[in-house]
Amino acid sequence: MKTGVSILGIFVADTAYLARRMPVVGETITGSGFSVGPGGKGSNQAVACARAGSPVSFISKLGRDTFGEMALRTYAEAGVTPKIVEMDDLPTGAAFIYVNDQNGENAIIVYPGAAGSIGIDDVEAARETIEGSRIFVTQLEQPVVAARRALEIAHAAGVITVFNPAPAEAFPDAIYPLCDYLVPNETEAAAIVGFALATEDDVRRAGDAILKKGAKTALITLGERGVLYHNHEQSVLVPAIASGPVIDTTGAGDAFVGGFSAALARDLSPVDAIRFGCATAGIAVTRRGTAPAMPTLAEIEALLARGASA
Ligand code: RIB
Ligand code: NA
Repeated sequence: MKTGVSILGIFVADTAYLARRMPVVGETITGSGFSVGPGGKGSNQAVACARAGSPVSFISKLGRDTFGEMALRTYAEAGVTPKIVEMDDLPTGAAFIYVNDQNGENAIIVYPGAAGSIGIDDVEAARETIEGSRIFVTQLEQPVVAARRALEIAHAAGVITVFNPAPAEAFPDAIYPLCDYLVPNETEAAAIVGFALATEDDVRRAGDAILKKGAKTALITLGERGVLYHNHEQSVLVPAIASGPVIDTTGAGDAFVGGFSAALARDLSPVDAIRFGCATAGIAVTRRGTAPAMPTLAEIEALLARGASA
């Protein structure tokens, strides 16, 4: 019997710098805050998924160092099952994150470290984990060949696939037909379709273009504009759910993907799973950091019961 969620992706230590603006080249500015915590898109999604109440396995590589220990501690606390290869010759990665201290916007440089060496052999070694899950999730922070092989394995085994093409990197067209849900944000969708998603009409045209490439459903996340659920049967713009003042949007997409996948694994309908993902993200953006900002199932259910809408 297939259960829970498996996620392939990277962990990095997020080093987040708060400042009023980005420095320009050659300039030094004084920041207003700093923190180090667990990050990396796939890892954040795994933490969100576990806190949201789903069994989840996280497939990745780490270095044997302080940041690697931070990752393993994070999984023990959140209840994520680590399927991790520890590398002796490569460090755990890290990300530089600038967070605007006025509006919470961010800019990121991510170095994947050991997880940048995830290859086809590593994915093959995790085959049983992928095939035994109800939902499989991956992104583009580790090499695309690994994402592709894992999606092939999941798709062939009848596992529901969720592909988050983040960051916006090129990927082979052969990936589209392997995707039950392709989940780009606005920027990633624009990179795929080649036009900006300014109006609701643009967003639906982008959804059409993604279906034409072979994905079964396009889920385009649009921040406070909500999420477009778009396939050949239905096209619904599900509203965002606000839970309080937005202070840090870093990892909001990961919160959505983790929450959505946890809800799908529990057999919620796609639209209810999207609402659940929106509530997960709606809480995460009111807290600093990425993985540490992910809400519990009780918090998500309380927000959904309140029925607050942005
Ligand atoms: O999506 C947010 C994540 O992207 C951060 O945690 C950072 O590590 C980058 O990988
Ligand atoms: Na946050």
